[in-house]
Amino acid sequence: MNRLRFIIVGLGARAQYWIKVISANPDCEIVGLIDPLEANRQRAAEQCPGAAVSDSLDLIGSVGADAVLLCTPPGGRQAQMEACCKAGLPILAEKPLADSVPQARDYVAMAEEAGVPLMVVLNFRYLPVTRQTLNLFAGEIGKPSFSRFTYERWRDGHQPHLNKYPLTMQHPMLWEQSIHHFDLMRFVYGAEPVSVYSRTFNPPWSMYADDANVSALITFDNGIVTQYQGTWQSNWAVPGFEWRHECATGVVIQKDQFGSLGFASRADTALTEVPLPPYRQWIDDAATLLESFVAALRGESPLECSGRDHLNSLQMVEACIKSSRTGEAIQIADLQT
Ligand SMILES: NC(=O)c1ccc[n+]([C@@H]2O[C@H](COP(=O)([O-])OP(=O)(O)OC[C@H]3O[C@@H](n4cnc5c(N)ncnc54)[C@H](O)[C@@H]3O)[C@@H](O)[C@H]2O)c1
Repeated sequence: MNRLRFIIVGLGARAQYWIKVISANPDCEIVGLIDPLEANRQRAAEQCPGAAVSDSLDLIGSVGADAVLLCTPPGGRQAQMEACCKAGLPILAEKPLADSVPQARDYVAMAEEAGVPLMVVLNFRYLPVTRQTLNLFAGEIGKPSFSRFTYERWRDGHQPHLNKYPLTMQHPMLWEQSIHHFDLMRFVYGAEPVSVYSRTFNPPWSMYADDANVSALITFDNGIVTQYQGTWQSNWAVPGFEWRHECATGVVIQKDQFGSLGFASRADTALTEVPLPPYRQWIDDAATLLESFVAALRGESPLECSGRDHLNSLQMVEACIKSSRTGEAIQIADLQT
């Protein structure tokens, strides 16, 4: 079978991982590279010999390709989406699809109208720890009823290897990080949110122009209630992560965002650790997601993480912003009218 030819738009920090992941997949190849920044174009060109390189989206219609990976900041993807749809090329877009829900809705409609598959990169769904959590819920521990999700990180946004736009964007924690967490909640609980009560704020030492802290109480349509705390400006460089699910006969606890899973029945005095396969952070999750994208384009499996599905996670972001502004719980159904 022919290899899937990718054009990558946006050659910054995240594309560095994608270049490795796509190049390592025997079913894929990189044929085009687009970025306005010469230094980033040059770096990527050296890593992808033979690929056409340009500072213009015109490359999308002029080079023979089968799909486009958008690795650009979420604000301002209109022209990129239009170029892909015009060329009839399937899109793999980095999360979040956009930095507003109306904009994301427009993109989803645009892709659907053009008949172009649109998948969003929600790589945390593909972590072994996420899949094992689902297995635990299906076993003796049983289904979760409520949970606490804590993500505390000192994210030094000035580090050279990190993107810089979150330093100045509105609600960087929500759009850039919590979006992963909200998507994971929907995925492992197999449920949609019905109401969100939230407060977002910025600690006094924050290097981010807008809120780096999010606290939220989220209720899902199957009754699960989740208490969420996420921050990029925890004042300790050692990160804290814990996602504790209270289930029918015990608990499931994840202690690291990439692994460390255990469970205990009510009377147990210690957690039983769940063995997880060896895993390369940021590589294997993206590699598995890419396999899923390729399989969907070949008609071998349904498209996962579709743009339309992603709208439900983006609405949780929108609900947090609105709840914090109004001081009231937001009913998700009210956002859709
Ligand atoms: N899925 C994940 O785990 C994960 C991790 C990190 C980043 N991301 C996402 O990846 C995306 C990119 O983030 P990043 O860290 O690479 O940011 P970055 O700022 O490091 O890189 C963005 C690149 O896009 C280029 N660019 C900007 N506007 C462009 C345009 N109109 N056309 C072409 N190129 C353009 C910039 O010049 C830059 O090279 C974001 O959506 C981010 O949220 C996802």
